[in-house]
Amino acid sequence: MTPRETTEFPTLRTPSGAVPLDAPAWNRQRPSAMPQHRYQPVHDRVALPLTDRTWPSRRIERAPLWVPVDLRDGNQALAEPMDTARKRRMFDLLVAMGYKEIEVGYPSASQTDFDFVRHLATSDAVPEDVTVSVFTAARHDLIDRTIASIEGLPRTVVHLYTATAPTWRDVVLGRSRAEVHALIRDAATHLMRRAGEQPGADIRFEFSPEVFNLTEPDFVLEVCNGLTELWDACADRPVIHNLPATVEVATPNVYADQIEYMDRHLARRAAVILSVHPHNDRGTGVACAELAVLAGAQRVEGCLFGNGERTGNVDLVTLALNLYAQGVNPMVDFSDIDAVRETVEHCTRLPVHPRHPYGGELVHTAFSGTHQDAIAKGLAHHAKQAAEWGLPVEEAPWAVPYLPIDPGDIGRTYEEVIRINSQSGKGGVAHLLHTHHGLDLPATMRPDFSRTVQRTTDADGRELSHKDLWDLFYATYIAPGEGGPVGLVSWSTADSGSGEHHFSCVLRIDEEGQERHCQGTGNGPLAAFTDALGTAGFAVDIIQYTEHGTTTGPGSHAIAYAECRVNGVTCWGAGWDTSLLTASVRAVAAAVNRAEGGAAR
Ligand code: KIV
Ligand code: ZN
Repeated sequence: MTPRETTEFPTLRTPSGAVPLDAPAWNRQRPSAMPQHRYQPVHDRVALPLTDRTWPSRRIERAPLWVPVDLRDGNQALAEPMDTARKRRMFDLLVAMGYKEIEVGYPSASQTDFDFVRHLATSDAVPEDVTVSVFTAARHDLIDRTIASIEGLPRTVVHLYTATAPTWRDVVLGRSRAEVHALIRDAATHLMRRAGEQPGADIRFEFSPEVFNLTEPDFVLEVCNGLTELWDACADRPVIHNLPATVEVATPNVYADQIEYMDRHLARRAAVILSVHPHNDRGTGVACAELAVLAGAQRVEGCLFGNGERTGNVDLVTLALNLYAQGVNPMVDFSDIDAVRETVEHCTRLPVHPRHPYGGELVHTAFSGTHQDAIAKGLAHHAKQAAEWGLPVEEAPWAVPYLPIDPGDIGRTYEEVIRINSQSGKGGVAHLLHTHHGLDLPATMRPDFSRTVQRTTDADGRELSHKDLWDLFYATYIAPGEGGPVGLVSWSTADSGSGEHHFSCVLRIDEEGQERHCQGTGNGPLAAFTDALGTAGFAVDIIQYTEHGTTTGPGSHAIAYAECRVNGVTCWGAGWDTSLLTASVRAVAAAVNRAEGGAAR
């Protein structure tokens, strides 16, 4: 799609209603013409009986039981559903990551799902400590088909669901509240009977009152408590009551209130696993799940990277890593998040957004100059602290600005942390030159190079790799030492032994069109060199000078940085050579050539 011009939005109507009378002077927003009166607040749609909530002051100190439903919910919602090979890949990924209860399909809904459950039942794909769950609607024939699919699987959960909210009862099912209750009990009884007929099978039960969040709380309790009793749940053989926010309709605090209410009122509470299944229609699925756990939920159903119907199920990646970032063990492994992401992308054929929390390609990358500067300082400080504590960097406590967790912990490299474009600053540029090329630019040289980088990125709008940065640094500061208006054709230096150094050179001065022999003396080779330059009419003061090795071992390069005032013009130059002396002479020569060539203008 071609982007529209800024003036070209004919269907938008800039809000023009009267500014509310009670609006403060600093808020001039006007009502838009959109028909918001068509929608009702959740408080008018469902009773919310809890007022003395306790969840806001609780903390999450352990991970809930995670149950990925990617192979059902995620799969239902795919334009191209997963085939058996893709499903198996996803299942193996979930097992490898450490999930212990995995919903593997809706076997009565499609042959593919049925076949996949059979595949699991007849292969050795399901480890000893993993329970598979299968989903079914509350109909005898569908329950029978579901039971047939799990034959041979040693441990399973059969997950029964029926919509319970008034709109669904009236519009979709065409049944009264009592009729829906009877339908659920009848299906649950049938399920219990059929499960009892499977010798040696360990089949547990789960019930979901679909659209729990819009169902009358007393009706949910009536149905769930009835099933707990019917299925004779006990602490050793608990029933799962899964309370979905099937379509997210309220702020997360409302869902949390609903869950705390259920937590307090469910009968035989020790015999019930309170589970939640938030969707993400309002974009707050993660917050709903987190607040629900505070409110008493013990189990969370969701999908990796938030796949699923419409805006998806709650994202299990974000939930787990949010806990991790608080120092709570997530009980699943994300140490190679890119492998997880790539597998999910392969199976779902859907891309993960580059800014997706934790797993997106760009989420550990800083382009902004101030952020880069802070991160570069933070990383250096972290390394220093780790050394002081005698800890490897990957073990030391983490406190680096703008990076909530160490990218290394989830298999990311530091390379992607700092990237250079026109928004970037001196800190980031210096960090990349240091990390990849061993350059430790003097603090006062950094703004100078940063301006050059900015001019380049502004001019062509593209991002610079660390290699591009090195090339630019070389062209700007080092290359001028190898030629320019004042060419250093040859040179030599000697130490008289009494602290006096002699410098003799041949200069090719463009303006003069001929070579000139010059001599100089000083208390060091550079002082002698500037003295020699003076005899050729170049008054050179070295304002700052530093040097260091860039690598170690034989044949490694040294770099020298010199800031010089040349006939009143101040410029930086750099020299890079295996000989430190050569590097230093070239650095001064580069500064002279840059000044004479007009670099400072
Ligand atoms: O979103 C939902 O309500 C569901 C359940 C039926 C578990 O997927
Ligand atoms: Zn769902």
